[in-house]
Amino acid sequence: MSKKVLVTGAAGYIGSHTLIELIESGAYEVIALDNFSNSTKQALERVKKITNSEFKVLETDLCNKEHCFSLLDKVGKIDVVIHFAALKAVGESVLNPLQYYTNNLVSLLNLLEYCKVNQITNFVFSSSCSIYGNADELPVTETSPIKKAESPYANTKQMGEEIIEHFLKSLPQHNAVILRYFNPVGAHLSGQLGEYPLGKPNNLVPIITQTAIGKNNLTVFGNDYDTRDGTCIRDYIHVSDIANAHVLATNFLLNNKNESQVSLFNLGTGNGVTVLEAITAFEKVAKLKLKYTLGARRAGDVVAVYANNNLAIKKLNWKIKYSINDMMLSAWKWQQTIENDGI
Ligand code: UD1
Repeated sequence: MSKKVLVTGAAGYIGSHTLIELIESGAYEVIALDNFSNSTKQALERVKKITNSEFKVLETDLCNKEHCFSLLDKVGKIDVVIHFAALKAVGESVLNPLQYYTNNLVSLLNLLEYCKVNQITNFVFSSSCSIYGNADELPVTETSPIKKAESPYANTKQMGEEIIEHFLKSLPQHNAVILRYFNPVGAHLSGQLGEYPLGKPNNLVPIITQTAIGKNNLTVFGNDYDTRDGTCIRDYIHVSDIANAHVLATNFLLNNKNESQVSLFNLGTGNGVTVLEAITAFEKVAKLKLKYTLGARRAGDVVAVYANNNLAIKKLNWKIKYSINDMMLSAWKWQQTIENDGI
């Protein structure tokens, strides 16, 4: 019998791509949970179509403990929880910190309580490279110092990691994998699933593709940084490569490959790419010239961050399949799908 994996935030950008990888691995039965506060039900319909499969969907808010627990109680024994559900806009978190602390932390606490009560001993947590802040040394490794969080969002990720570590200390039979994502971009190669920011996007790649179709205006935030072309450096990683790492993390936990209760992994390509280089990569694959302006720095941006990913490659057996050109081309294909079919 296949193992049951509960995916929270399953209709979100990374959650939906992870459902596909889990289903296509053939090893897992997935249960999708989402409150659809920042995602759409159509994303799950798209996953069903791409994978040609059905799965259970629980519409509930992890902050509503009673409702959520009552639905979870009906699905039977869960083997692994992959917890994506969270708010993730850095700027919004600065404007509305209480919303971020409440949503991201209460949901995590409730879910851990459910795991404790029901002896669900395998937990995979979405963390972020933002926990490294302005790192002193690049690339960052999993043991690089955790700097003071630059935003409430980043702080909820730092606190989330700490909460999980303390939780595990109290329950020796429980284990967790914490995955620190760098900059997930791109879309499923079919062009049938991708990021669909409700409202105005904040992230670079959706803004690039929207600018290319005339629905947005890209401003490069700062070109006076101490980098090779003056713009910020990030480690862009294809969302399907990130999604695949979750299947590997699930295998890792279920096969007892972990050497300690909590295992941390950076998920990035290891390549730093400037904003202007990202734009050039897009222009090359989309075969067009992008109109953009050079603007002021954005508050809270770190100058440069990219990953040392050796640990994920060695311990999870992670293989990165996609290049920056694949990331840009798939994002562009997805933008056209949205234009033609809607979401
Ligand atoms: C941030 C967080 C990341 C989080 C993500 C979620 C950090 C270091 N990273 O990514 O952990 O998961 O948000 O939203 O805090 N840019 C422009 N013009 C734009 C938009 C972006 O020039 O209109 C530039 C930014 O200055 C940055 C790069 O593009 O240098 C990437 O920005 P973005 O896509 O917003 O991601 P991060 O801020 O790196």
